[in-house]
Amino acid sequence: MRAKVNGIQMAYTDEGEGACLLLVHGFPLSRGVWSKQVEAFKESYRVIAPDLRGFGETAATASPSPMSRFAEDLHALVRHLEAGPAILVGHSMGGYVALAFAKAHPEAVRALALVSTKAGPDAPEVADARRALAKQVRAEGTSVVIHAMAPKMLSGANSDKAMAAAVRSFMTPTKPEGVIRALNGMAERPDGRPWLAGLEMPVLVIAGLEDTLIPPSESQAMAKAIHGAQLRLIPEAGHLVAFEQAEAFNAALWEWPERKNGFKNAS
Ligand code: MLT
Repeated sequence: MRAKVNGIQMAYTDEGEGACLLLVHGFPLSRGVWSKQVEAFKESYRVIAPDLRGFGETAATASPSPMSRFAEDLHALVRHLEAGPAILVGHSMGGYVALAFAKAHPEAVRALALVSTKAGPDAPEVADARRALAKQVRAEGTSVVIHAMAPKMLSGANSDKAMAAAVRSFMTPTKPEGVIRALNGMAERPDGRPWLAGLEMPVLVIAGLEDTLIPPSESQAMAKAIHGAQLRLIPEAGHLVAFEQAEAFNAALWEWPERKNGFKNAS
């Protein structure tokens, strides 16, 4: 499906009925990473999974892509679809976006799940490396990023070739301009750690124990800093935990005590 929101034509999946589960993919991925959650949750929820600006089937634009712009795109989409407030689930870069969304529009977030992500900004050398990579993508295309990122999405012990191919397929539709703008956007993102104590919606933090891109210690630190946050660390899972260990990931979402309580603490 497509909708014109916030000046862009946004591609998204929208299945099921009920409270909105908004699934936000990471970098340099696209909404296909959530296929196993769409299938599992569409019987009970309205599951919306967009392609962020410049990713998957959503076109890139000439303007920069700070995390706040992605967040405004999502906010506009949920309003357009009359679907909010959302149970917002953000993976990795999608977690940076989800945090920016929750900071800007807390009333539009019923509950928040932060997956394989972190709240702190890039160290200066990491930000420099991202800007250098953005230049390389401009010269050589997205294959440099796919080559660097794809092998790090799953746990080291995972030899499932079909799963590895699927991961690459989630990256290939993403446009060079989208990758470049997101790399620069991530390099410039603000420190979200001071926001954590102020989050008033229920929060679930999930990570794969074998994640080498964003180590689970980041999730532990985030969960500690958020009042009442639940933490679930999933074994035999790398960075793309929701895809690699979908059953355990879905169970963590499903068994979230706040979900069972109907997110009664949400505003
Ligand atoms: C992601 O998966 O979205 C990226 O690993 C995030 C990042 O590079 O910081």
